Amino acid sequence: MAGINGTGPRTAEAGALQVENLSKVFKTRTGAIRAVQGVSFRVAPGEVLAFLGPNGAGKTTTIKMTAGLVRPDAGDVRVGGVSLYARHDAVTAQLGAVLEGSRNLYWRLTVRENLEYWGAMRRMPIRAARRRADELLELVGLADRARNTVQTLSRGMQQKVALCQALMHRPHVLLLDEPTLGLDFESGEGIKRVVRQLAQEGTAVLLTTHQLDVAQELSDRVAMIRGGRLVLEGATADVLTRYSQPVLTVVAATPWPTDVAARLMGLPAVVTGTDTLTVDLTDDQGSTLYRVLERLNPHPLVKIERHQADLAQVFQEVMGEAAGQIGEAASVALPAVPAREGAVTS
Ligand SMILES: Nc1ncnc2c1ncn2[C@@H]1O[C@H](COP(=O)(O)OP(=O)(O)OP(=O)(O)O)[C@@H](O)[C@H]1O
Ligand SMILES: [Mg+2]
Repeated sequence: MAGINGTGPRTAEAGALQVENLSKVFKTRTGAIRAVQGVSFRVAPGEVLAFLGPNGAGKTTTIKMTAGLVRPDAGDVRVGGVSLYARHDAVTAQLGAVLEGSRNLYWRLTVRENLEYWGAMRRMPIRAARRRADELLELVGLADRARNTVQTLSRGMQQKVALCQALMHRPHVLLLDEPTLGLDFESGEGIKRVVRQLAQEGTAVLLTTHQLDVAQELSDRVAMIRGGRLVLEGATADVLTRYSQPVLTVVAATPWPTDVAARLMGLPAVVTGTDTLTVDLTDDQGSTLYRVLERLNPHPLVKIERHQADLAQVFQEVMGEAAGQIGEAASVALPAVPAREGAVTS
């Protein structure tokens, strides 16, 4: 196989996903839940956007609206500039989605029947669909289960079939709602490899996950949602830098001499272990580290490294800030609001 989607990088506009001002209120017996409130983002071809947020934040609702499965009250979804609501079939033909809990599989059909059925729905000729199904099952290591019904597969296997189904028609945009949930280590690594390769081939990927290490590894950009609203969006590397602290850790090759604290007197350095210390660069004019090193000289050192936040720390901090700003908006029942006149017309 030349590639998974086999079509090579796409032009910047053709495969781009734009989500514009999506909103959704669910009416319930006790009132209404504002699940998604004015969410906008863009995923370029070849880019992986990690869409993160706590339980009930509105991720799945956003993904379902993006896939054309839930009707928003307002807002629009565009692929290659074409509106999902103006041209539903043309746009969904460019989209592939793995939804929560592999719900779009028929449990009583075999794996191959599911994939061929999906191919037929996407107007693929039967022979092409067969070839494609074989190719994808090979890719995820399920070729030997093609003739088993989906209900006889393990949950992780079903998750992989759901991914194959989403890829049958070589979509430009891939929506993945917790694709590695419940997968064993090796299977999780396999899915990550597939996602990486798809992005390299030019697919735009929107990924939700609670595994923040997976998000950090795979994403080019990150968006965080809480209470139905986006609370952060940016390039993953920039976000990590922004949340990193101006602190250096110095590691010695052997335990510090007993007078190390006295030697560092007056400098923003704190001994944190028998062979470690941290240097606070908050008010640094450029010479702090040199001054610390002069006082440590000639003690042998092995490493000096700057603090680097990970996505888990960013997530905690952002969600803490967001809680202060907006409260638990998503889970609070609000009076129903009338659907706004928006781009949704049909
Ligand atoms: N069909 C529905 N009817 C009523 N309320 C709904 C419906 N679907 C979702 N909600 C509500 O909308 C809010 C957002 O739910 P959503 O499933 O989008 O969250 P999520 O971010 O995907 O959460 P999780 O991390 O748990 O998957 C929740 O308060 C949920 O109860
Ligand atoms: Mg969800």
